[in-house]
Amino acid sequence: MKTKLPASVRLSDEIPGYPVFEIAHPKCTARVALHGAHVMSWCPADEEEVLYLSPDAVFTEGKAIRGGIPLCWPWFNAHPTNPEQPSHGIARTRFWGLLGAEEDESGVTIRFGMEEGIWKAELTVKAGAELEVSLETLNTNEIPIVVSGALHSYFSVSDIGNVRLVNLEDADFLDTVGVSTLRKQKGAIEFKGEVDAIYDSPGKVLLVDDFSGRTILIEKGGSPSTVVWNPWMEKATAMGDLPDEGYRKFCCIEAAIANDKAVIVMPGSSHVLSTRISVEE
Ligand code: BG6
Repeated sequence: MKTKLPASVRLSDEIPGYPVFEIAHPKCTARVALHGAHVMSWCPADEEEVLYLSPDAVFTEGKAIRGGIPLCWPWFNAHPTNPEQPSHGIARTRFWGLLGAEEDESGVTIRFGMEEGIWKAELTVKAGAELEVSLETLNTNEIPIVVSGALHSYFSVSDIGNVRLVNLEDADFLDTVGVSTLRKQKGAIEFKGEVDAIYDSPGKVLLVDDFSGRTILIEKGGSPSTVVWNPWMEKATAMGDLPDEGYRKFCCIEAAIANDKAVIVMPGSSHVLSTRISVEE
């Protein structure tokens, strides 16, 4: 890797053939894998870890890391027309290229890129007192392309029974547990069983953990949908890369573009899907 890294970034080769950028900056520590341009960890100074990473996550080319921030791109969930294509797209299961890395007093910025066929993307991670992740889809083709996806963020919680999500009250959502049903959210979201839901909401979400007393603010850009997911017990037990009780330790809140909200990107233009995560004072 020829790009020069700033002093607060170290390239770890602890997992052979699987480079991980380790950030140790006065504002935060963080880890980002080259595989999937995948943020695995972010811990602002004087705070606890914000993201959940499964202790059973698998680090090998072609397998998405369970936890952190997987990039679902250029489609969300199943491919819109071809069931042979992988769920959640091609970005999370391949190595990206490093485009650059810089630091200043506010944090560290690392940029990654990938290109395959008609698809071209750049991912910018800015880790400091806040974490900003921006996924830019660039259309370098002569025809429009249709993109969806998600920044599939796994947040660490004291216990899933202790948390509520605020600011999606009254939002319409597609409940995809069992037969997909359109519903309207009443009050804050609480987790009492499997949750898999696509909210029509371009705005922020607050994750309130009533046990730890911590509130995490999740802001979004270029994201008409917010996906909320927890697999609960039965599905977690069936996952080889998540401990049976692991579902109690996280919830996913995803800055997403899903289903009929897919974005058309015209030739020569781009679309940015982003999230900014901060711990509330
Ligand atoms: C969520 C979807 O975004 O991702 C769920 O809404 C899906 O339906 C989940 O189960 C996890 O997907 P995967 O492929 O990482 O196990």
